[in-house]
Amino acid sequence: MKQQELINQAFKAMNHAYAIYSNYHVGSCILLKDGTTFLGANIENASFGATNCAERSAIYAAYSNGYRKDDIEAIAIVSDGFRIAAPCGICRQVLSELLPQNAPIYLSNGKEEVVTTIAELLPMQFNVEDVKHD
Ligand code: THU
Repeated sequence: MKQQELINQAFKAMNHAYAIYSNYHVGSCILLKDGTTFLGANIENASFGATNCAERSAIYAAYSNGYRKDDIEAIAIVSDGFRIAAPCGICRQVLSELLPQNAPIYLSNGKEEVVTTIAELLPMQFNVEDVKHD
């Protein structure tokens, strides 16, 4: 699946966003090496902290279906915002553990596109190595 197709799928997911508070719609599509894709959208809540971002929804769907980091090819994250939606801090932390460091992250708002990686978005990561103890 090509970059543009993955971005198109993410826009499809964006239409499923439940964003009645912010009215800011985000969609994501994660591509596995076997060709499987999972969609994710931002799902808000009256208790705002319970909101789940689109990219976390997508990557959690992949993991919930038995896939793991090494199975992942790429992820697209799109929004209907004025600027492209660069993943928030919580999502960067989650992606730093669950996404391969150099997997392409395609960002788009329909006008502008950026390709990046989690290694670029989150340097000096706090990760599993830091939590190891015995
Ligand atoms: N949001 C995402 O889905 N992904 C991001 O990386 C940035 C923020 C959502 C959360 C909330 O529903 C809305 O955008 C406004 O913050």
